[in-house]
Amino acid sequence: MICESAALADGGPGVRFALGEEPDSPVGFVVRYRGTVHAYVNRCPHMGTELDWQPGEFYDVAGLYLVCATHGALFQPATGSCVAGPCRGASLQRLGAREEGGRVLLLNEEAAAAGPTEDTP
Ligand code: FES
Repeated sequence: MICESAALADGGPGVRFALGEEPDSPVGFVVRYRGTVHAYVNRCPHMGTELDWQPGEFYDVAGLYLVCATHGALFQPATGSCVAGPCRGASLQRLGAREEGGRVLLLNEEAAAAGPTEDTP
């Protein structure tokens, strides 16, 4: 489980989570957009930095796009596609996540590494 469903409000703060056991394991994050949860690896395709300007703060001020704190790239929350900024046309790496019983669950990490799955909304 990543978090309780109630922890994610539309356009609000996201939840970060480790993608492995090691201290330097990559970090993922999940946000809610138009009612649906979307999870990605927290790594900007431009230079590989984490996106959030404060832990869990992924959205721009309008709550419409995910924004990279380093150089301001904007990402479409539902697809992870960069729509503005230095990595325009690139995408965040999507992770499989779903909601069940009031909880947000991360799907199999190997399947997630292969890209979107049928279970991914
Ligand atoms: S590192 Fe994200 S826009 Fe440059």
